[in-house]
Amino acid sequence: MHRTRIIGTGSSTPQKVLSNSDLAAIVDTSDDWIVTRSGIKERRIASNGEASSTFAYRAALNALEMAEVAPQELDMIVVATITPDMPTPSVACLLQNKLKTRSIPAFDISAGCTGFIYALAVADNCIKSGANNKVLVVGVETLSKITDYQDRSTCVLFGDGSGAVVLTGETGDRGILSTHLYSDGSCGKLLYQPGGGSQCPASHESVDNREHYLKMDGNKVFKIAVKSLEDAALTALQYNDVDGDALDLLISHQANSRIIQAIAKRLGLPQEKVFMNIQKYGNTSSASVPIAMDEANRQKRIKKNDLVLLDAFGAGFTWGSALVRW
Ligand code: UT7
Repeated sequence: MHRTRIIGTGSSTPQKVLSNSDLAAIVDTSDDWIVTRSGIKERRIASNGEASSTFAYRAALNALEMAEVAPQELDMIVVATITPDMPTPSVACLLQNKLKTRSIPAFDISAGCTGFIYALAVADNCIKSGANNKVLVVGVETLSKITDYQDRSTCVLFGDGSGAVVLTGETGDRGILSTHLYSDGSCGKLLYQPGGGSQCPASHESVDNREHYLKMDGNKVFKIAVKSLEDAALTALQYNDVDGDALDLLISHQANSRIIQAIAKRLGLPQEKVFMNIQKYGNTSSASVPIAMDEANRQKRIKKNDLVLLDAFGAGFTWGSALVRW
């Protein structure tokens, strides 16, 4: 069987830490509310001069080093992000330049917090088709740049960082067993950034109206996220004819610890099979699954042949899952 295997993982997060008590000093919130409702204790925030490509580059170098792959060996770069350095060129092209790869295809994917699963699925299919054989997939966000630090309902949630994987095609049973992707555009305005695109370009008025920040109806998103993530997880298991007991680790999008616990309960997973790092980073959108995957890998929470389920949900709405035999 020709499969796509993850042969290296890497991540990078900003040095600057923003704690719950730091936020309680600027908006009407408390450490207790944030921890109880979301599980977040602190998040990493980019400094002035740091952009998404800063962290994407560091995460990519870490993943390439683990994979023992030189940048010149790569034949494609796919970056998932909703916070590129600038509208164009893409972060993938900035990364292609920083890594000094050959003139390989490089492009960004915008699929909200599910971006990394989307990028992984695209890369997996390119490798399985025979078109590519060494692909770098990165999830990166600097959400702090589009977070409204006057809006307590969102500013406590988001953080910055990047995670990356190096993929290769191999024969054998290990690798990506399946990917499932979904969307429902009718829910777009429950989680969106109104300003900065062609509908509402930047203007003095759009800035004054705070249109360039993320807006979210958290409670509505929460309910749909739980159901969608459960569905995507169960579909991955059914498609591969395995049940929850067979899983070694769940790495779900780190948006809310209560959402992750709900999925774990639905799958019948004990705590030790659920990876959680939301307390340190908050919600890093496209970067959340690959940062968690890299930490789990480096902490030896994932071993050869383990069955790992990846699951994400985000703006769009988009959602999806991937089942991986490590
Ligand atoms: O990554 C993409 C997907 N994103 C998600 O999946 C996020 C999904 N949503 C969530 O994680 C949760 O909805 C939140 C953590 C955002 C909020 O938790 P919640 O239990 O849904 O709270 P809520 O929005 O229903 O708000 C409850 C109360 C409200 O006050 P009243 O109306 O009951 O008086 C809010 O105004 O909490 C208030 N509140 C806050 N209080 C203190 C909202 N934000 C804060 C805050 N500190 N930061």
